[in-house]
Amino acid sequence: MDETSRYAVGLDVGTENVRAVVLSVSKSGELAVVGYNEGKSVGMRKGVVANLAGPAGAIDKMLGEVEHMCGRNIDSAYISTNGSQILSTNTEGMIAVGVVDHEIDDEDLARVEDVAVVGRIPANREVLDVVPLEYAIDGQGGIKDPIGMAGTRLEMRACVISALSPNVENLRKAAENADVAPERIVPSVVAAAKAVLTERQRENGVAVIDMGGATTSIAIYEEGDLQYVGVVPAGSNNITNDLAIVLAIEPELAEEIKTRFVTGNLKAEKGNVIRIMRGKEERVFDRKEVETVVKARLEDIFGEVRKKLKAAKYDQRLPEGVVLVGGGAKMRDIDVFVKGALEASAKVGVPTGLGGVASDVAKPEYATAVGLAMMAADENGNFVAPKKAKAGKKAAKVKKSGPSFIKKIFSKF
Ligand SMILES: Nc1ncnc2c1ncn2[C@@H]1O[C@H](COP(=O)(O)OP(=O)(O)OP(=O)(O)O)[C@@H](O)[C@H]1O
Ligand SMILES: [Mg+2]
Repeated sequence: MDETSRYAVGLDVGTENVRAVVLSVSKSGELAVVGYNEGKSVGMRKGVVANLAGPAGAIDKMLGEVEHMCGRNIDSAYISTNGSQILSTNTEGMIAVGVVDHEIDDEDLARVEDVAVVGRIPANREVLDVVPLEYAIDGQGGIKDPIGMAGTRLEMRACVISALSPNVENLRKAAENADVAPERIVPSVVAAAKAVLTERQRENGVAVIDMGGATTSIAIYEEGDLQYVGVVPAGSNNITNDLAIVLAIEPELAEEIKTRFVTGNLKAEKGNVIRIMRGKEERVFDRKEVETVVKARLEDIFGEVRKKLKAAKYDQRLPEGVVLVGGGAKMRDIDVFVKGALEASAKVGVPTGLGGVASDVAKPEYATAVGLAMMAADENGNFVAPKKAKAGKKAAKVKKSGPSFIKKIFSKF
């Protein structure tokens, strides 16, 4: 492997699954997938850390194989957060930039951003991102980049993404307990959008919908910028649970029915049956009954999604439609259901445009991890040291007694 390459790591800490992707970044900026893995998540509830040991153990276990695969130690990563605690707030700020003929500089932008953010977001929230949507100089709006322009009064419109501080802090702790320094925390659907959207889609207007196990998140893009983020606290697991309850069957069987036999094209005829072998026993289910349960839950979830699109003023105003990602998007023909429910074109999105073993992660459930690694690559990348040890991550390491050097660097997070 080229030792001059940079390496960027994305770590998706989901409610059901943890996933990681390592990208190598060549000098000319080409990205290649050099490591990836997924594992069962532990100790997460609706996108949020419910106990520290669970996710830390799950991350640690899963990363051992990634380190093996790419031959590097993973000490830091871009990490996803999720849950209905994530909010986007549209804010405005205004500052006087002083004397006539003053040219607007970086300092002015930082000052107007401060005004737009400080005091507008509740105190117990951490700002994850500030997306400048538009600037106005002396009352004239529609400016994307005001640097170098002259004026006396600078206004800014921004979309501020925030999450509850204790939740973000617990996620950081869980990662640190797995010896991974959290470089940046990104809402999982925003990271997924990075991996699956084209420039044209972002420009014209599109929504990414990440249907995970316990959450369904929405990110809306228009004019190239993120305009809105919202999270519905229900996901594909709810379908499994409903099937288990209504059919009075064990969750594993309900999951098998969902993943093998259910489609988003819900049109079963009477008398149509689903047959599953459990050992020597054949179990038979009425397809119509199964579909009634699935349909009710999908209608509920996408009804909530539609309410959020409406609240954000993008209902039936998305020329590029919606792009579905996450494990829930693996349901066959899910796009057919979503098209009907949202009255918008819908398709399943997968990460594209990467080299290396990219085909292995060209799956909707890998969109978040890939997007996180792509963001890390864009915004510097994290140089990942060559791997020295031979065993799994924790086993290979001498346990540090104090905070590591990298943790000190990132202690400001
Ligand atoms: N073929 C399939 N058809 C339908 N659902 C599927 C299929 N494969 C996986 N799923 C569902 O995808 C869900 C897991 O998705 P994912 O791994 O994206 O969740 P997560 O990121 O851990 O959760 P969250 O984002 O809500 O925190 C599970 O509910 C699983 O049953
Ligand atoms: Mg997820």
